[in-house]
Amino acid sequence: MPFDTHTAQRDPAAFADRLGEQINGAAVVTMISLGHRLGLFDRLAITSPCTSQSLAEACDLNERYVSEWLAVMVTGDVLDYDASSATYRLDPGHAACLTRSASPDNLAVVAQYIPLIAGMEERLLQCFRTGTGLAYPDYPCFHQVMADDSYQTVVTALFDHILPLIPGLTDRLNEGIDVLDAGCGAGKALLALAQAFPRSRFVGYDLCLEAFEPTRARAEELGLDNLHFEQRDLRAFDEPGRYDWIASFDAIHDQAAPDALLAGIARALKPGGVYLMQDIAGSSYLENNLVHPLGPLLYSISCAHCTPISIGQGGPGLGTMWGEETARHYLHQAGFDDIQVQRLDHDPFNVYFVARR
Ligand SMILES: C[S@@+](CC[C@H](N)C(=O)[O-])C[C@H]1O[C@@H](n2cnc3c(N)ncnc32)[C@H](O)[C@@H]1O
Repeated sequence: MPFDTHTAQRDPAAFADRLGEQINGAAVVTMISLGHRLGLFDRLAITSPCTSQSLAEACDLNERYVSEWLAVMVTGDVLDYDASSATYRLDPGHAACLTRSASPDNLAVVAQYIPLIAGMEERLLQCFRTGTGLAYPDYPCFHQVMADDSYQTVVTALFDHILPLIPGLTDRLNEGIDVLDAGCGAGKALLALAQAFPRSRFVGYDLCLEAFEPTRARAEELGLDNLHFEQRDLRAFDEPGRYDWIASFDAIHDQAAPDALLAGIARALKPGGVYLMQDIAGSSYLENNLVHPLGPLLYSISCAHCTPISIGQGGPGLGTMWGEETARHYLHQAGFDDIQVQRLDHDPFNVYFVARR
């Protein structure tokens, strides 16, 4: 009996203990997200140990709330507490996991997905009951969280790890080529590329103007004339033979028409052009994801965001965990015959498909 091995070994008391730990963990992670957004960890990394009063003053926050937040962090084993001096401390060895820096290590960025998901519960009750989907404006801060996340995983690794996935790409960017980021979101990768490679021309298309508007404004301030953003529904994308390099970062599985977009991307490449698709690491088969270290998180993001977003656009609702097998199939169907799959150490969430026609 296949189920016996999976459930019979679990004693009910141990199972209840584990659920209790998970509930506590969810509470702590929700508060970690708040601390990240309020800059509390960044301040603690500079001024630990400190009192609740001095921390609140340094962050320009109300002490009563900060004190309650600190109690969560201490009981959740995130911060240390010295009762004799009523001071709190962020262990310097743990700071990289919780503070802003030019590295991909800050897990507080990822923690933001938990309150984002939880905040959708009322809407999701309806989705489950009616089969309807949601739209980007239904999510109060999706684009901000996504931009924070992809800044860590994409922008900080762009030049040293991501561009080298495609041999010769950096040289070609230096010479001057045409580049598209399809579903660019905030477009911070494009901004970094446009600054680094002034001879190349960069285009970012996204359904949501508000996602890339701040970056477009920044590009204008910087006087960049090689970066162009445009609000586009990519279900009808068709610009044959226009680009040397097309990239998409976590932007295919929640599209209205992922198959049509991929076919459009294949057509849009010039001869010798290349497509880099970063998408979620995982299998298309649940049974292969049982020990996936991020399985519950990724399926939750799928359930609360990627699936309803695609369904809400009339799309197939592939979900975050559409998986490597389905992604390969879609790429192949779109006309890509040469597909290589690569992984990067800094980014356990994703795989990188390098695809050519
Ligand atoms: C998961 S986000 C990734 C954003 C960005 N690539 C990043 O890594 O930060 C997916 C993006 O796809 C865009 N998108 C979804 N459906 C789209 C459509 N039909 N046409 C164009 N863009 C779409 C969304 O607006 C969103 O910015």
